[in-house]
Amino acid sequence: MNFSLEGILKELKSKDFYNIEIIRSTTSTNDVLKSVAKQGELEGKVLVALSQSNGKGRLGRNFFSQETTGLYFSVILRPILLPKDSILITTAAATAVAKAIKEVSGKNAKIKWVNDVFVGSKKVCGILTEAGIKNEKYLDYAVLGIGINAFYPENGFKNEIKDIAGAVFDNNADGMRNKLLAKILDNFYDYYKNLTKKEYVKEYISLSCAVGEEVTVISNGVEKDAFCIGIDDECRLIVKYPSGEKGVLSSGEISIKIKSV
Ligand code: BTN
Repeated sequence: MNFSLEGILKELKSKDFYNIEIIRSTTSTNDVLKSVAKQGELEGKVLVALSQSNGKGRLGRNFFSQETTGLYFSVILRPILLPKDSILITTAAATAVAKAIKEVSGKNAKIKWVNDVFVGSKKVCGILTEAGIKNEKYLDYAVLGIGINAFYPENGFKNEIKDIAGAVFDNNADGMRNKLLAKILDNFYDYYKNLTKKEYVKEYISLSCAVGEEVTVISNGVEKDAFCIGIDDECRLIVKYPSGEKGVLSSGEISIKIKSV
């Protein structure tokens, strides 16, 4: 079946939680949902766009969002969560995506802390969570945005990303996007119901490709070599620098490169 609302709903178990809309094109599904979340739109609203003209990634980067080959969507969430804990949304989503890729394509997906999902040495998915704050304490809303390269573009990926980007499926079998999206939403909902219990974190850690690897930590443009010792139950990366000093890294402005990937 073609990629369609009907096709997604046929596969989706958590229908009561989600309210899905598919549109042909927009600037950024995150931007659109942030704007409607501020106006009171309910938790569970999902906006899927077939293409985005201004898809956004972490750290102000662009997210290449070409029509027909990707899965670009955002979800409005209204958890009772402190802003510092919004990393739980991103990491639960990464776990949901990696698990869904395995379930639908049979491929082993790995998570590169904090928000990227890889198949082999190629990035197939990026996640961007953006939040608004209420009463200067708790989140008012969070918009979880997920961008996946489902298929390879006919003329290949753009030059800027062709060395790092990969796709989940080898062939353009359109119905697979229905299954993949439904699985991601179902998996995510399972984790989200009890998010603060952090039961998914063990799975997040076991899917991580950073633990036990030499990494480069990049913070404000400065690169430092380190060894990744582990990830703690708040999804912070624990590293050891060559000096012997230990670092506990929260995602914020920090990203890593993994030397073996
Ligand atoms: C990253 O790789 O740094 C995160 C990429 C997140 C992309 C998704 S696509 C759907 C949603 N809308 C956006 O503008 N960004 C996210």
